[in-house]
Amino acid sequence: MKIKGDIYSVGVVDKDVRIFHGYATPIGTTYNSYLIIDEKITLVDLVKAPFAEELIANIKKIVPLEKIDNIICNHVEPDHSGAFPKIIPLCPNAKVYGTLACEKELHAYYPETKFEFQLVKQGDNLNTGKYNLNFCPMPMVHWPDSMSTYLVEEKLLFSNDAFGQHIGTGQHLEEEIELSILLDQAADYYANIVLPFGGQVERLLAQLANRPIQLICPSHGLIWSNSCGEIIARYQKWAAGEVNQAKVVIVYDTMWHTTEKMAALIAAEFRAKAMEVVSINLQIEHYSYAMTQLLDAKYVFVGSPTLNNQMLPSIAAFLCYMRGLRPKDRIGMAFGSYGWSGESITLVQEQLKAAGMELLESRKALWNI
Ligand code: FEO
Repeated sequence: MKIKGDIYSVGVVDKDVRIFHGYATPIGTTYNSYLIIDEKITLVDLVKAPFAEELIANIKKIVPLEKIDNIICNHVEPDHSGAFPKIIPLCPNAKVYGTLACEKELHAYYPETKFEFQLVKQGDNLNTGKYNLNFCPMPMVHWPDSMSTYLVEEKLLFSNDAFGQHIGTGQHLEEEIELSILLDQAADYYANIVLPFGGQVERLLAQLANRPIQLICPSHGLIWSNSCGEIIARYQKWAAGEVNQAKVVIVYDTMWHTTEKMAALIAAEFRAKAMEVVSINLQIEHYSYAMTQLLDAKYVFVGSPTLNNQMLPSIAAFLCYMRGLRPKDRIGMAFGSYGWSGESITLVQEQLKAAGMELLESRKALWNI
């Protein structure tokens, strides 16, 4: 599909993926790859290994692979490089462009694949004829190798994972979907992938500040056109850690409904204080949805009954996942029911404290309320 000028989208849709390293993707995702036709032909990013043949077929509809001169590898995570061992032998004239970390990771993942590599740094330019591609490394957004590439003449940013969304519905362009849905999906993606790297995102946004941007082509989901300014503003807000001081997220699991009843009472209590409350039962919702809600919430209350002297495994998984994503400056509370020993409340509290949270006094219920 032509995006603009001589730039094509040649990526693939993975409508079936439901868990993306721990993150629930109920509507699948895409692995976007872009082809730039110019005097020198450039391929930007690849796709996950099982989709290599589909990528090859998409490229062949536009140009024979042996005519590709440049392959830009903005990120080595295998959802964007898995096709590398199949693509490289078909592009004998191609040079691969990436960061130092990119080169090391490509050799580590694909030791049998021989390729010519061109190391690029911040501000380096690749001229392909009528187009100029500027390289903008963005380390730890979200891997050491991560990079974005700016196409000067079209004011277009190939942003890789940044500004992505896991939407595998087959749509390509922002105009094909309601903006509120697209922004919600981008928030979901930020909360579950990018959240630990706010400082690095701020550095990326500072790099981009002096560049006019009319199109953002991420490596997952839809291309931003009319709302580039809006999604950049949201990234600024999320990276700065701005939250709603009056929003509470309650995350719980329950055995015989006492912890569930506690969650309902806590929700009613905080709603009576004019606070927005989102209550998430992990028997129904995936924990990554809880992270999405926590993106802009000041408070997180976590409830688990005690089972075999422990918290419930669903709550342990959520806490482990949340700690990894490192939300900052939140206020937490542990609650839960118990029959005789009641360790879960202390265990949850310890995890919230280890996540750096200020804690409200925990709440316990014996047997029933
Ligand atoms: Fe979409 Fe970090 O891979």
